Amino acid sequence: MLYLGNCIEIMKTLHSESVDMVFADPPYFLSNGGLSISSGKIVSVNKGEWDKKKNYPDIKVFTEQWISECFRLLKSEGTIWISSTHHNLQNVQRALDKTGFKLINTIIWHKTDPPPLVYKTKFCFSYEFLLWYGKSKQHYFNYERMYEIGNMEMHDVWTIPAVPHHEKRFGYHPTQKPELLLKRIITSSTKPGDLILDPFSGSGTTYVAAVKQNRRCIGIDIDKQYIELARKRLEGV
Ligand SMILES: C[S@@+](CC[C@H](N)C(=O)[O-])C[C@H]1O[C@@H](n2cnc3c(N)ncnc32)[C@H](O)[C@@H]1O
Repeated sequence: MLYLGNCIEIMKTLHSESVDMVFADPPYFLSNGGLSISSGKIVSVNKGEWDKKKNYPDIKVFTEQWISECFRLLKSEGTIWISSTHHNLQNVQRALDKTGFKLINTIIWHKTDPPPLVYKTKFCFSYEFLLWYGKSKQHYFNYERMYEIGNMEMHDVWTIPAVPHHEKRFGYHPTQKPELLLKRIITSSTKPGDLILDPFSGSGTTYVAAVKQNRRCIGIDIDKQYIELARKRLEGV
């Protein structure tokens, strides 16, 4: 099911303890007129109204609200994954702790092909965090499958390239995540038939990866054009 609207309002209409896993890639509120490089060209980092820089108290309230709704919706052994950078890490961690979530892992997603720097004054940013927290001390983890993939005990640093071109063939989203990343998250922490919720579904990557892995999914996005893009991607699966 794909919902168009504000995730906080939509999550309030869903049943408590009905979801097995949440993957959330929330706004980082970084769109403040800065510059980046994409396909060799200098581009504005303005991603859209939803990512416009906000003051800290507003971001704090927003983050606490959507994280506590996720807590209510998760089953007692459910888990939440949140993608993050140093820009919103502390804020997200504080909200997770306050809500009662328990840390399982902090994964480093190392990107093999990050965008180059505009100003050559520092090291290139090449990773993001994936915070994995549980609602209780019990949670599902497919250790054996993760072992098989790496032919050894899976580490908490994952080297996965950014989104390949063929995953963008249905349209553009400024912060689309690679399917391979979601496939690993879903395989490691859910079983076939489980229900996954993505409150910031964007281009629908979580949904596409969930369907391919025989999981059920609820996606929510506030922007109609991204719901439409996710719908087109799903038709292609
Ligand atoms: C970082 S992007 C997610 C990208 C996604 N992981 C993908 O692979 O395409 C965040 C998305 O959240 C949506 N969004 C922002 N604020 C929202 C809100 N309050 N409720 C629902 N969606 C929201 C934006 O429209 C944007 O598509």
